[in-house]
Amino acid sequence: STSEIGLIGLGTMGAMLAMNIAEKGFAISVFNRTTSKTDDFMALAAREPGDLASRLTPTKALEELVASIAKPRAIILMVPAGAAVDEQIAALRPLLDADDLIIDAGNANFHDTNRRAAEADAAGVPYLGIGVSGGEEGARHGPSIMGGGKKACWDRVSHILEAISAKYEGQPCATWMGEGGAGHFVKTVHNGIEYADMQLIAEGYGLLRDGLGMGAAECGKVFEAWNEGTLQSYLVEISGKVSQAIDPATGKPVLDIILDRAGQKGTGRWTVIESQQVGAPVPVIEAAVAARNMSAAVDTRKAGQDLFGAAPQALPEGAVTIEDLEAALIAGKIMCYAQGFALLDTAGATYGWSLPMPAIAEVWREGCIIRSSMLNDMASALREDPARNLMFAPYFADFMKKTHGALRKVVGASVAHGIPVPAMSAALGYFDTMRTARGTANMVQAQRDFFGAHSFERLDAEGAHHGPWGSHA
Ligand code: 6PG
Repeated sequence: STSEIGLIGLGTMGAMLAMNIAEKGFAISVFNRTTSKTDDFMALAAREPGDLASRLTPTKALEELVASIAKPRAIILMVPAGAAVDEQIAALRPLLDADDLIIDAGNANFHDTNRRAAEADAAGVPYLGIGVSGGEEGARHGPSIMGGGKKACWDRVSHILEAISAKYEGQPCATWMGEGGAGHFVKTVHNGIEYADMQLIAEGYGLLRDGLGMGAAECGKVFEAWNEGTLQSYLVEISGKVSQAIDPATGKPVLDIILDRAGQKGTGRWTVIESQQVGAPVPVIEAAVAARNMSAAVDTRKAGQDLFGAAPQALPEGAVTIEDLEAALIAGKIMCYAQGFALLDTAGATYGWSLPMPAIAEVWREGCIIRSSMLNDMASALREDPARNLMFAPYFADFMKKTHGALRKVVGASVAHGIPVPAMSAALGYFDTMRTARGTANMVQAQRDFFGAHSFERLDAEGAHHGPWGSHA
């Protein structure tokens, strides 16, 4: 028993994480149910530079894995989220000692992690659920890690997790978020923001392509330029790259041959469901999830175009400039993050976590999919006041003042010419709602009271009141 840690599940993420751990100097035992995958993994590791492979111990049975790890053991699970995690825990636990730690590093639903943590508590065994972001590249060279579970469990492995994590100016992007499912919850909201950020960028691309008539490569150059400014981010950077890539088979831009149907594994949906549960609105994220679902209805959209005709979409000369678009995206991005952080704040209070709000922004500065230069400024704003809506932090309020006009211009032109911009529209709707002191919910309250005697509050008196509508008067 010489390995410091073990890992089960050598899919892409698991394999890359194991190599990262070995590279950082930790001896690690690995196991995969399909043993040929373990052989393939070892062959791949042998080709890595340095002596990384010498710290890897392949095992062909769970018993062998367990026996090869120093006590008290720590074992990372990198198996598909859902039932596979429960099955793996059930198979592994009987082979372990009471103080051996199981760490679920998959994209678990945080409710599952809450349950598994409670089950582990009841059994008196340690358990962690950690969110890992950064895709294949991140897992291999430095992901962003959002930990959840007992702090004492986190402390047992934090030196490994910090060592393998991305670094922002030397600071590790690996942070304990709170008990139970806190880490997976933070990862879920990360993914919700990821969906929204991606959708906003896709809508920007739509405006460039259909509104301004640009080819894919030209769009790519615009993203490249934006990546030098306020919008600097991994997602804008890769949007520039994918826009300029050429399909070797046809010589066409890759973007032009990809079917416009977006997949999803559910984390964006979980963010929206949770926002509804705790009453913290995330309309930009909701629009992004809905947009993916609408994108999936390829045949319906084709039928819609046949029935109603395609909108013209091409914008008149000068209606929207590239600068307008950039500003609109800045405004949209600020609002989608503001919504995501507000959800974290509300849900944290609901679930009894004191989520470290500035540290969440900090842990997302490097390694994860939504990493961007703006996150450092968000961390500063949240350090000043962790509960304040980011849009109201002076730094971001200044940006909003400078950019909301462009967002309105872009959404207005899109509406006028039939370019679908659901996420940008949702962002604008949120902005206009949040700066309207006297809204229209008085009408909703009057209706509720009329048909259901639900009562309303008055502007000029305390208490619950009813309207003079017949039986309730
Ligand atoms: C990350 C990603 C990662 C994964 C998503 C994609 O942070 O590294 O979010 O976890 O790529 O699950 O989600 P969809 O398949 O739902 O787009």
